[in-house]
Amino acid sequence: MHHFQYKNGELHAEGVAVTDIAESVGTPFYCYSTATFARHFNVLSEAFGGTDHLICYALKANSNQAVLATMANLGAGMDVVSEGELRRARAVGVPGYKIIFAGVAKTKDEMAYALSENILGFNVESRAELEALSAVAAANGQTARIAIRVNPDVDAKTHAKISTGKSENKFGVPFVDAAELYDLAASLPGIQVTGIHMHIGSQITDLTPFRQAFGLMRSMTLELRERGHNLEHLDLGGGLGVPYSSSNDVPPPPADYAAIVKEELGDLGLKYVLEPGRMIAANAGILVTKVIYTKSSPAKHFTIIDGAMNDLIRPTLYDAEHEIWPVREELRAEPNIIQDLVGPVCETGDYLALDRALPEFREDDLVAFMAAGAYGAVMSSTYNTRLLVPEVLVNGSQFAVVRKRQTYEELIDLDTIPDWIARP
Ligand code: LLP
Repeated sequence: MHHFQYKNGELHAEGVAVTDIAESVGTPFYCYSTATFARHFNVLSEAFGGTDHLICYALKANSNQAVLATMANLGAGMDVVSEGELRRARAVGVPGYKIIFAGVAKTKDEMAYALSENILGFNVESRAELEALSAVAAANGQTARIAIRVNPDVDAKTHAKISTGKSENKFGVPFVDAAELYDLAASLPGIQVTGIHMHIGSQITDLTPFRQAFGLMRSMTLELRERGHNLEHLDLGGGLGVPYSSSNDVPPPPADYAAIVKEELGDLGLKYVLEPGRMIAANAGILVTKVIYTKSSPAKHFTIIDGAMNDLIRPTLYDAEHEIWPVREELRAEPNIIQDLVGPVCETGDYLALDRALPEFREDDLVAFMAAGAYGAVMSSTYNTRLLVPEVLVNGSQFAVVRKRQTYEELIDLDTIPDWIARP
C-alpha cells in the first residue's frame, strides 16, 4: 500500500498534487512519500513484534539524506556496503551501534573507518577478508564484531542479476566451509564472532527459498553452538519483493515472512537483524516524466518522454515492469494503445516500458512510473550528459526538494583539461 492516489482527477502524493511539484521543480523528478516509508517500516516492525530484532534499512535502495533521516527517526538502523554509505548513515546521526557493514570487497581503509565508528558488525564474505579485518582491528587495539555471510546455495527464483545465494554467485562463504571459518575467526586477534548472515537475493516473491535458507541457518546455528561459538544475532538479509506490474511480482505479506522466520528460528533465542531495502522504499517513490513527442512506425507506437534509462535503469537492466500512471486520471479510462515509452538517450535499450497497453498520451502529459523509490535515483547516471534529476519528499500537504537538479556547470566542471592540451 502506498500514498499516491488520485484526488479531484489528478495524481497526488499524500496531500500534494503532482502537477504542483512539476511546476515547481520541472520534470523529470523523483517524488517520495514519507507516510509510505513509515507504513512499510511499521508493517515489518509489527510483523516481528514481540521478538528481539533490529531493522537495518539497506540504504543502497535509496540513500537520500532526507530518506535516511526519516528512517532513522522511525528507529531503523542501517545496512551499508561502502564507506560512502557508512558516511551517509553517520551524517544523519545513525549511531554506529545500529550499523551493519556488508559487501565482498571492503578495503582495509574502509574497515579502519568502520571500526573507528564502532559499528554493530561486519558481515564477512571470505577468509581473506576475515584475516584482513583481524589485522586492521588488532593493529588498532580494537575488536571487530562479525557474522560470516554463508552462501546456502539456494535458488531465490528471482532475476539472475539480483540472485545472490547460489554457489556460482560471488557472495559469501560456501555453507560447507563456514563452520571451519568460524573456528578460525574465534582464534584470530581482533575478531569477536557475534552472528550468522545470509542474503539470498532481491525481489523475492516466493517464501520457499527463504524457508530453505532459514532452515540451513538453523542447522548452522546448532553446529556452531556445538563447536563452542557464542552467537548473539541472526542476520536474515533483505529481499522480500514488492508488486511491480508483472504477474510474477506478487509478494507475500511481511507477516507471512515473519511467520516463517519464527517457525524456523524462533526457538534459538537469538536477536534478528533484518536488512530490507526495496520493501521499505520502492512503493514510497515515483518517477514523474513529461511527454515530449509521440510517433508511430509500422511496428510500434512510441511515446517519447523526458525520463530515460539514465534516470531509471531497472527496465533495461532487470526487465522490470513498473506500473505507469498518467497524472491526469481521465486518461486511465482508455488504456487502448500498445506502446513503448522511450527516452532521449541514444540507445535502443533506452526504454522505460515495452509493449504496454496505455492511453494515447499527448505532448506535455505527465506520466508517473510507480514503485521507483528503491534502486531508482541511486542507480541514475549522467549518461548522454543528462543532469541528475531532483528528488522531492512529500509529508502530508508539504513538500521539499531533498536533492536539487544538477546544473550543467556542476556536471561539466567535474572534468579538468590538463595544461598540455591546447584550448581550441
Ligand atoms: N542485504 C544485502 C547483503 C544485499 O545485497 C541487499 C541487496 C539487501 C540487503 C537489500 O535487498 P532488498 O531488501 O532491497 O531486496 N538494483 C537491483 C537490486 C539489487 C539488490 C542488491 N542487494 C534492482 O533494482 O532490482
